[in-house]
Amino acid sequence: MTLRHFLRDDDLSAEEQALVLARAAELKAAPLSRQSLAGPQVVSVVFDKPTLRTQVSFTGAIAQLGGHPLVVDGALAQIGVRESVADTARVLGRQSAAIVWRTYGQDRIEEMAAFAGVPVVNALTDDFHPCQILADLLTVNERKGVLAGLTLAYVGDGANNMAHSYLLGCALAGMHVRVGTPASHQPQAAVLARAEEIAAEQGGSVAVLDDAGAAVAGADVVVTDTWVSMGMEAQKGERQGSASPFVPFAVTESLMARADPDAIFLHCLPAYRGFEVEAAVIDGPQSVVWDEAENRLHAQKALLSFLVEESA
Ligand code: CP
Repeated sequence: MTLRHFLRDDDLSAEEQALVLARAAELKAAPLSRQSLAGPQVVSVVFDKPTLRTQVSFTGAIAQLGGHPLVVDGALAQIGVRESVADTARVLGRQSAAIVWRTYGQDRIEEMAAFAGVPVVNALTDDFHPCQILADLLTVNERKGVLAGLTLAYVGDGANNMAHSYLLGCALAGMHVRVGTPASHQPQAAVLARAEEIAAEQGGSVAVLDDAGAAVAGADVVVTDTWVSMGMEAQKGERQGSASPFVPFAVTESLMARADPDAIFLHCLPAYRGFEVEAAVIDGPQSVVWDEAENRLHAQKALLSFLVEESA
């Protein structure tokens, strides 16, 4: 057995991603059918940044797997300030079956994984939000019945964690991923190169476009995210103002009309109506955002059970 972590989307192979998504669907149909954390075993869930969905869904997921969720307020723990990430990892790892962490730098969660001795799950960093993509893929598969070959268009901030995770996670699923973003907000070159490599292996494709209409044209799935990611609050005025470079990338009804007529709309939430998405879209008939939010629970149950069982 090998200790397994989920720090970024490509920590799962394409086959493992498919297995986790299939298990998520099974657990959605039979919520208590897998007791991977029976005991109850403790899972530490640590938040250095705000959360609603991630806290609720991991808490429920761990409980329904027979475990005990221990939510740790990062403001109290002060990881990296009060004590090092490595020492925190050693302490949590001795008392937890797994560690789930929402934090800032990817280097922090990589250090946690290096010293914890138990599976570590990225519940959002500045660079990736891989648990969200599992939930999104589950949602798309429920609506479309397939993932490989579909076109997903993400429009907005191409340099943020959601853009990076869509590139990797959807490429793994064999999808065609288009990122529509201003030239000033490109994805990290290394992430884009890795996504291109995965897409070539899985039969999908990756494209970054600076024209929202071209990105969305004919797409099966349209997604966006807030223009003000956590940690960027000081830039809120310029990112949401009328001169923001993201304004042409807002998901309006007219942009949505460029997609396939049966396209669905996703948003990881929280959403800011009138900025990255029009109310008529997120509250309209093509929106599946409430299914998507619920699917965090099912996807994370499947992921945790997979990681814990693989690492045992
Ligand atoms: N989508 C998501 O991660 O939601 P929270 O920030 O509320 O956890």
